[in-house]
Amino acid sequence: MAELAFGVDIGGSGVKGAPVDLVTGECTAERVRIPTPQPSTPKAVAKTVAQVLAEFGDAAAGLAVGITVPCVVTHGITRSAANIDKKWIDYAAADVLADILGRPITLMNDADAAGLAEVYYGAAQGQAGLVIVTTLGTGIGTAMIYDGVLIPNSELGHLEIDGFDAEKRAAASARTEEDLNWNTYIKRLQRYYEVLEALFTPDLFVVGGGISRNSEKFLPFLRLRAPIVPAKLRNQAGIVGAARFAHEQKTV
Ligand code: BGC
Repeated sequence: MAELAFGVDIGGSGVKGAPVDLVTGECTAERVRIPTPQPSTPKAVAKTVAQVLAEFGDAAAGLAVGITVPCVVTHGITRSAANIDKKWIDYAAADVLADILGRPITLMNDADAAGLAEVYYGAAQGQAGLVIVTTLGTGIGTAMIYDGVLIPNSELGHLEIDGFDAEKRAAASARTEEDLNWNTYIKRLQRYYEVLEALFTPDLFVVGGGISRNSEKFLPFLRLRAPIVPAKLRNQAGIVGAARFAHEQKTV
């Protein structure tokens, strides 16, 4: 029988969850998405997570639960909140979520979860050395994985580049909000990735987030030494990575 765990991805606009087959890295049922409550305070969001789990009834019972948040997470405490309610800063989020859900959970940064999913099941499978996974969305999330081991909370979306918080210039939201054409946006991405490359010399870049659906519009135009490839798991990556991470935490 397949080994399963449950993944939940908390984003600025939606809370998504599904059971995941840990051998294939695929969701075993259609994911459920409920809009993120506004304001996105931890308790309101935790109740939404409970609703997502409840939708699966018995299918979610007994499974390890991994949850992602768009925050720095250390020892179950959320430490930052760039694109979510500021109440998450220095908040005992893992305890509160476990309390409201009535079961143990594992909490991690959303980009770290997406990065692990790509290393285990996606575009970075089997890649030795340093992989940097970036998710281009409302913000920029990053995961650094060295020889398969995650270095958590890298937050390279907030590097200061040319006097700007990098994600304000190069996140996918900058392109839509400033109505940039692809040429202009590609220049911003080029600058962002060349700074990452100069600082970390990764062996591989993986680009995720909704925009990776259109990767042919920008990836072929970036000039870097390391290969840069689109993510394979697309919008499931957070769910899948969180499920896998929760399973590992449970079995160590
Ligand atoms: C946050 C990160 C998060 C990323 C993607 C950034 O603004 O600081 O923690 O991973 O957005 O959601």
